Amino acid sequence: VKIFKIAVIAGDGIGPEVIREGVKVLNKVAELSGDFRFDFTYFPWGCEYYVKHGKMMDDDGIEQLKVFDAIYLGAVGYPGVPDHISLWDLLLKIRKEFDQYVNIRPIQLLQGAPCPLKDVGKKEIDMLFIRENSEGEYAGAGDWLFKGKAEEVVLQTGVFSRKGTERIIRYAFETARKMGKSLTSISKGNALNYSMVFWDQIFNEISKEYPDVETHSYLVDAASMFMVKQPERFQVVVASNLFGDILTDLGAAIAGGMGLAAGANINPERTYPSMFEPIHGSAPDIAGKGIANPLAAIWSASQMLEFFGYKALADTVIQAIEKILQEKEVLTPDMNGTSSTSEVGDRMVDIISSMLHDERLERP
Ligand code: NAD
Ligand code: IPM
Ligand code: MN
Repeated sequence: VKIFKIAVIAGDGIGPEVIREGVKVLNKVAELSGDFRFDFTYFPWGCEYYVKHGKMMDDDGIEQLKVFDAIYLGAVGYPGVPDHISLWDLLLKIRKEFDQYVNIRPIQLLQGAPCPLKDVGKKEIDMLFIRENSEGEYAGAGDWLFKGKAEEVVLQTGVFSRKGTERIIRYAFETARKMGKSLTSISKGNALNYSMVFWDQIFNEISKEYPDVETHSYLVDAASMFMVKQPERFQVVVASNLFGDILTDLGAAIAGGMGLAAGANINPERTYPSMFEPIHGSAPDIAGKGIANPLAAIWSASQMLEFFGYKALADTVIQAIEKILQEKEVLTPDMNGTSSTSEVGDRMVDIISSMLHDERLERP
């Protein structure tokens, strides 16, 4: 039996509430498969930890995490600790230190998911966002000059390296080729006369290596409009760090809401652990009430299963999410239901159990 060592950083607000349900699902899937199991180690890092210890994680936190096969993270950030501290000292630090330069965010409208758009379904909203996750607008570079003076100026520098830009665009082309889908690049080359001109140039260069992949390029403003008006235009999408961040919240909104939006921070070389986390935050407005939707965290757990090579089991988890949405019986308030976070997790475990059980019976 293979053992996967998982570091759990449940984090702040609804983080621990949703991660608990994801762990339930992962344990059940492992048990039913019989091929592997998970060994979870919990790290108490986050804003509460910061208030007690003056830091978001241990000084050697990155060293501690290196030995794990993956990290499962809830959310980071809570009122009382400035966001730029909590995020830069934990979440963004892990993404950077572990060179998790690919952020994979599926935007798929499952049947039964609430959608604010009319006349669209599963066929129209079926995208895979590939967000650059290590540099760009999030390089953390800048300056704060003449603080407090009349001539005060702040600089926030975007950093687009050839290596960083090529590797994310190449990863996106590989993904589109494997899936037999088109690839759309998100740009703003009309106004960002360095970063996005460079981005466009590299996209064009690399596209020549993939003549079989249909390509599109949209300016980010137009892309936002088309994602709402004609989402069927987008299949695989590659975007810089900030554009990818913003467009995937928009994507979440059209595909059922933040409670359903999953993400994986991947280090493709597997030199370091990859990290799986829902794309929503700590949701202070609903934290502690037991009503957070755990389906995004569970979907992220399914991305972890796929990363470990269990594609069929990962698909089963997504099918189970679709089933719970279609049943409309056990859902949290954001999905127009009245159930609690843990009731949704329990129902997911039941659905998955019966799906995997049926499958076993069907095997010749
Ligand atoms: P948010 O995603 O936490 O919440 C936005 C809205 O979506 C809220 O109304 C919230 O109730 C709702 N929502 C989010 N997840 C939900 C779920 N699972 N079920 C039901 N409703 C859900 O974004 P925010 O309010 O802008 O940020 C709150 C804090 O989280 C900030 O400190 C921010 O920096 C941080 N944050 C962290 C991460 C992360 O750790 N990956 C991601 C985004 C934001
Ligand atoms: C996300 C979040 C983070 C990001 C924040 C919390 C730093 O919004 O994962 O989408 O911008 O990457
Ligand atoms: Mn975001």
